[in-house]
Amino acid sequence: MSHKRTLVTAGLPYSNGRLHVGHMGGAYLPADTYVRYLRARGHEVLYICGSDDNGVASLISSRKENRPVEELTADYNARQKADFDGLGISFDVFGGTHQPDYVETHERRSQTIFNAIADKGFFEKKTTRQLYDVEAGQFLPDRYVKGGCYHKRADGTDCDNDSAYGDQCEACGNAIEPLELKNPVSTITGSVPEARDTTHWYLKLGSFEKQLGEWLESKREARPGYPAWREWVLNFCLGQIKQGLPERAMTRDLDWGVPVPLDDPDAAGKVLYVWFDAPIGYVSFTEKLLAGKGDDWKRWWQDPECRIAHFIGEDNTVFHALIWPAMLMAEGNYQLPWQVVANAFLNMKFPGADEQKISKSRGNAIWIEDYLKRFDPDPLRYYLTSIAPEKNRTAFDIDDFIARNNGELVNALGNFINRSMIFAGKYFEGKVPDAGARNEVDETQLKALADARDEVTSLIEQFRFKAASEALMALARTANGYFDAKAPWKQRKEDLAACGTTINVCLQTVHTLCTLMAPFMPFSAERCAGMLKIDPALPWDGATAELPGGHGLGEPEILFKKLDADELFGEDAG
Ligand code: MF3
Ligand code: ZN
Repeated sequence: MSHKRTLVTAGLPYSNGRLHVGHMGGAYLPADTYVRYLRARGHEVLYICGSDDNGVASLISSRKENRPVEELTADYNARQKADFDGLGISFDVFGGTHQPDYVETHERRSQTIFNAIADKGFFEKKTTRQLYDVEAGQFLPDRYVKGGCYHKRADGTDCDNDSAYGDQCEACGNAIEPLELKNPVSTITGSVPEARDTTHWYLKLGSFEKQLGEWLESKREARPGYPAWREWVLNFCLGQIKQGLPERAMTRDLDWGVPVPLDDPDAAGKVLYVWFDAPIGYVSFTEKLLAGKGDDWKRWWQDPECRIAHFIGEDNTVFHALIWPAMLMAEGNYQLPWQVVANAFLNMKFPGADEQKISKSRGNAIWIEDYLKRFDPDPLRYYLTSIAPEKNRTAFDIDDFIARNNGELVNALGNFINRSMIFAGKYFEGKVPDAGARNEVDETQLKALADARDEVTSLIEQFRFKAASEALMALARTANGYFDAKAPWKQRKEDLAACGTTINVCLQTVHTLCTLMAPFMPFSAERCAGMLKIDPALPWDGATAELPGGHGLGEPEILFKKLDADELFGEDAG
């Protein structure tokens, strides 16, 4: 890798609700795994996130929960932050586009970028008809209006969704022009809106079709230091370009958000579109984090030596791989994303029930707050990685979660670490025995360590976290096979030195496993490092460095516990 500085972001969660396993598995967890890996390699890295506070989503929830939008967004921001902390998601900063400590920097940065794009002539000011709620006395952008979808599905049949929102139809995934909705209804008052004139600023996306197309095409082929983007992301975006990118309004008639910074009477009382200001949050939170260090934030955002990686859920793809890069191209001074790592959605599968989409109204989500009240973070991190929806949708299957915890974490990984530690504690005075005379079986096991390290490294660098965690578990299985083949419980009685050689190799294996599992399961890795009495930073380059004979060990601890389905999600699980 030639670059040594990486800025990683994960999609800003709307601060209008709690987080569930789908959010975590889709963006925050893979990004965290990647960040922890880079840190272990000694790279300079920043992991940036915060809440997406502006826009209609928060306004609707504020009305529903009957409390001011500032209070609502501050409350969910804090609760989400606690969820992230509990799962070990290691942001360098968790800001918020309208949080008291961040809002000023955020508004200034958003307005500066908006003005730069305006000065370059990439906005078109247009007056069009928009839906207006007479009873509420306001326009109805985005989710403030619902109606029948007018699109066709991918298979050519009509989308029959009769409650598509004014921004996007959740059934067929298409963008919605509110004026075209069939039988539109205001989601504020339930009344039938009328069309009125209003003026907005539209980003001329068409001007960037060629540049975006070439840039995206260049992401197909992997080059050293430039892993290829996921093919479905590229195909989706290039497909959109082929259809033509329409102009999109970047302002809204709302009083919650970043004020439009233009000195134009038509801009009065309007704010920036939430999808314009939200990605700028990545920049403004970086700026706030590095406040007092002058222009240091530009080393991350405007220097080609820095790589920028955005981790997102599938529904954010258009915004991160087309609109945001177009904004940056229009502005002209920023680095384009080096990677957009998108994941598909996660469904839920409960015992005896069909697989279903996660939905609040169905009440089938596993909330992080609830999970963390009773269980350890690492089994969830492990399971979410092992089912990562990197290519298509996958399901969080309760039975499978239990099976993998018990079969893989407890029986394979945990068991190997535990039996090795116990053996060293009992028969070798809690020290690493001397390597002694290693035979071919021992050397093969040591070679497996280096191979696993190389494989996990290469897979993480290709953003293939699921496969990387499989390689980690394969090493744990190989390790158990080695232990069984050498049978140290027999060796101990026949030839103590030979037994020492076996346990020495086992402890080298524990060291490698501990280092390689750290990006995935940081809490368990830290405890394991404690047992091995080694540097808890677990430098990646030291993954196969040998612990010398005589190295003192700590007390063995059990890293993983068996779980029971009923206890977890049964009738009386809390
Ligand atoms: N709030 C959006 C969502 O949850 C994501 C915003 S990502 C950002 O889907 F880039 F715009 F910040
Ligand atoms: Zn539709």
